[in-house]
Amino acid sequence: MIPRTIVVAGATGQVGKPVAKALAAQGNEVHGLARFKDPIVREEMVAAGVTCHAVDLIEPDLSTVPTELDHLLNFAVTKTGRWDKDLAANADAAGLLMQHCRKAKSVLHCSSTAVYAPTGGEPMREDSPLGQDHHQYMMPTYSTAKTAAESVASFAAKAFDLPTTIARLCVPYGDEGGWPIFHLMMAQGGQPIPVHTDGSRYNVIHHEDIISQIPALLEAATTPATILNWGSDDVVSVEEWTRFMCDIAGAPEPTFAPTDHTIPSAVIDTERSRAVLGPCAVDWQTGFRRLAETLA
Ligand SMILES: NC(=O)c1ccc[n+]([C@@H]2O[C@H](COP(=O)([O-])OP(=O)(O)OC[C@H]3O[C@@H](n4cnc5c(N)ncnc54)[C@H](OP(=O)(O)O)[C@@H]3O)[C@@H](O)[C@H]2O)c1
Repeated sequence: MIPRTIVVAGATGQVGKPVAKALAAQGNEVHGLARFKDPIVREEMVAAGVTCHAVDLIEPDLSTVPTELDHLLNFAVTKTGRWDKDLAANADAAGLLMQHCRKAKSVLHCSSTAVYAPTGGEPMREDSPLGQDHHQYMMPTYSTAKTAAESVASFAAKAFDLPTTIARLCVPYGDEGGWPIFHLMMAQGGQPIPVHTDGSRYNVIHHEDIISQIPALLEAATTPATILNWGSDDVVSVEEWTRFMCDIAGAPEPTFAPTDHTIPSAVIDTERSRAVLGPCAVDWQTGFRRLAETLA
């Protein structure tokens, strides 16, 4: 592969970190953006070959970030719970980044299935209705800020004639982390795990598949932006993955607390994304086994 210059926003995050490290390991020139408040994480990224740019996306100063680049990947997300800050950092900053990087060949803007109106576990297509604050009980600004960010990315793709893919990620996880880790930790601590009354089912996707699908996501970038769901075909419930990991980690039998006041199911229709991205390589049992063994 020809080495590329790639800007990765959110380079210290659960998803952005393994992506930025993998792209650097492949020989690309990777510029990572984040606040880098944790010096240990910064050192880890520098050691992985990532050039670090400390930027606060609430009031971004992008002056050190290259304008000559091949690709922009935006995995940043800000969840302060303050509407002004979260709209500025997620939505306005997505546009400012694309404006700054407008000479790029393509952009991947990472969004979330949280933009969809909950369907009670029915598969959501890319043209399914958006709306209702999917995450309102845990992260009140999240769904709205993610939808606003998609609109800004869509606008910027047109305004700057910048080929863009907006990928609505479902539940990412891998050896470096993910939401399911919290469930295992709660089970280990004997705490009941909230699950939605709709069954809490999601299309999980392993970091390895996320990394390997990035070239195809960039290849799919268009103006106006392409919108794709992003997840594997494995639909797994919180109960299923927690029980599975507890078994492997030797944790106590988990207990669950069904409620309407938690994140509802997000099952996606994967027809369009499978056609563009191909199949995922890591099945959920292999991925969760590795995660549980790593944590144990
Ligand atoms: N995790 C999930 O289960 C999930 C599910 C669906 C979709 N997604 C989407 O996947 C993408 C990546 O999510 P993630 O889970 O990796 O998020 P994360 O772990 O919370 O990481 C967020 C990243 O954004 C950076 N960031 C946050 N606030 C910032 C600010 N004010 N200025 C600059 N950088 C800031 C963080 O770096 P610093 O803190 O170092 O600044 C970090 O690198 C997001 O688009 C998210 O919406 C995630």
